[in-house]
Amino acid sequence: PAMTPRKIIIDTDPGQDDAVAILLALASPEDIDVLGITCVAGNVPLDLTVRNARIVCELAGKTDVKIFAGCDRPLGRALVTAEHVHGKTGLDGPVLPEPTMPIAEGHAVDFIIDMLREHAPGTVTLCPLGPLTNIATALQKAPDIANRIAKIVLMGGGYFEGGNITPAAEFNIYVDPQAADIVFKSGAPIVVMPLDVTHKALVTTARNDAFRNIGSAVGIAVAQMTEFFERFDKEKYGSEGAPLHDPCVTAYLIRPDLFKGRHINVEIETESELTMGMTVADWWGVTDRAPNATFMGDLEADGFFTLLTERLARL
Ligand code: BDR
Ligand code: CA
Repeated sequence: PAMTPRKIIIDTDPGQDDAVAILLALASPEDIDVLGITCVAGNVPLDLTVRNARIVCELAGKTDVKIFAGCDRPLGRALVTAEHVHGKTGLDGPVLPEPTMPIAEGHAVDFIIDMLREHAPGTVTLCPLGPLTNIATALQKAPDIANRIAKIVLMGGGYFEGGNITPAAEFNIYVDPQAADIVFKSGAPIVVMPLDVTHKALVTTARNDAFRNIGSAVGIAVAQMTEFFERFDKEKYGSEGAPLHDPCVTAYLIRPDLFKGRHINVEIETESELTMGMTVADWWGVTDRAPNATFMGDLEADGFFTLLTERLARL
């Protein structure tokens, strides 16, 4: 564990897997200090992602977390959502109460800028779990923050696995490729959790039983969330269960040793409709384009699920 907890902002579009990523962070105060949660339109429209983030914090009993509403649409394209995966609410599966905790005042983008300016350079990590609209908008509005970001650890993209929303593109990058392009060109240190890794974080029946057997409201809700969205991936990939995409980001902050990747050049396709949002990852070093991201490729899945189950049991 880190000597002092790492300060992070979770930028998110919950989403069942976003929910698990948030729960893991909130369960890990010795490693992670959540300065706030900034919501963006993605899996479902913004009003629902804000609602879902509040539901998740209430489920965790952490009603003092600051939750901000952010951008309600991508920079230059119409919003594409993913109710076909996450259900009508974005958080289908468990039956959870409507949230009552407040939404923080102000815009998510301004919160991101303020936090980066208030804290010493290199001390705030951004953790995007959805389309990169809020992060790109902050970088456009306040270019000085790029140098102050400790790291951007994000879920998005895919190379060997291809895409999941089109043959070439992963959902988060596809929804706002322009934003992704801005982020990948920002010069900030970037760690990417692409489908190549997240498709190894599969919730098998035994792993989901372990969540349920925690026996708490959180454990049971997590089991019900993954059961809901595993249907989609089972049918599509014939895989054993749902991939826990977004928790790879928060797990990396706690146990980076569970992941393996390469520091390479990654560019975003923003022009071709056919391959829009593709992460063109120079895994084999066949260009002389400068490396701008650590692109993960492998995960020690058993260690990942052990960590997740142990931490969720604390809530
Ligand atoms: C990503 O898209 C969303 O549906 C998930 O929450 C995850 O962030 C996976 O492609
Ligand atoms: Ca997400």
